[in-house]
Amino acid sequence: MKYTLAFDVYGTLINTSAVLTSLEKLIGKDAAKPFMDTWRDKQLEYSFRRGLMDKYTDFSICTDNALSYACKKFAIDLSCEQKEALLNEYKVLPVFDDVANGLEELKNAGHRLFAFSNGSKEAVTKLLTTATIIHYFEAVISVENVEMFKPSPIVYDYFLETANAKKEESWLISSNNFDVIGSKMFGMHSAWVQRTPDAIMDPWGIEPTTVIHKLTDLAKNL
Ligand code: LAC
Repeated sequence: MKYTLAFDVYGTLINTSAVLTSLEKLIGKDAAKPFMDTWRDKQLEYSFRRGLMDKYTDFSICTDNALSYACKKFAIDLSCEQKEALLNEYKVLPVFDDVANGLEELKNAGHRLFAFSNGSKEAVTKLLTTATIIHYFEAVISVENVEMFKPSPIVYDYFLETANAKKEESWLISSNNFDVIGSKMFGMHSAWVQRTPDAIMDPWGIEPTTVIHKLTDLAKNL
């Protein structure tokens, strides 16, 4: 069967941990990892809270606000230029090593591939273009048009409508457990990309349709 595949972007295709090297230079090796984790956790928390409050804003604002939070929490005084440099780096993050080969296999197998993200269409298009994987995708679909964030059912519904696809023929592929659970509860198939052995699926009793460790394992598990 040929499926419609919705790929999450940040953390699934694109390696957000690539900012670690810059952070190590700026704030030292010991502080960099906890700082980065706080930055990422807060970025997502801010998107969830904005969704609940019905106060959508561009995802880049969540990223920016979360960076300011991490600076406060770790009492690190970054200059405006240093913050700007980190946020600019977020716009050109690299892909994980397995991504291009995995996408190539799936495309050759005849599936329809879409990038589906909390990020704006412009930001995601730039990321995927810089990473030279944009040509694998039929389109970049952003939540921005419905002004809501994952894992609201509104955004999965919007994805299906825009891709002109049926739930039962569609998969959401993500390393983010909230996205996997959100899409599964909505009624799509979901593949969890467990990128590190210590990544935990939330114990909600809602299992992904399949669990993979790299995108090159997806084609044979659909
Ligand atoms: C995205 C974030 C949630 O790309 O990873 O949608």
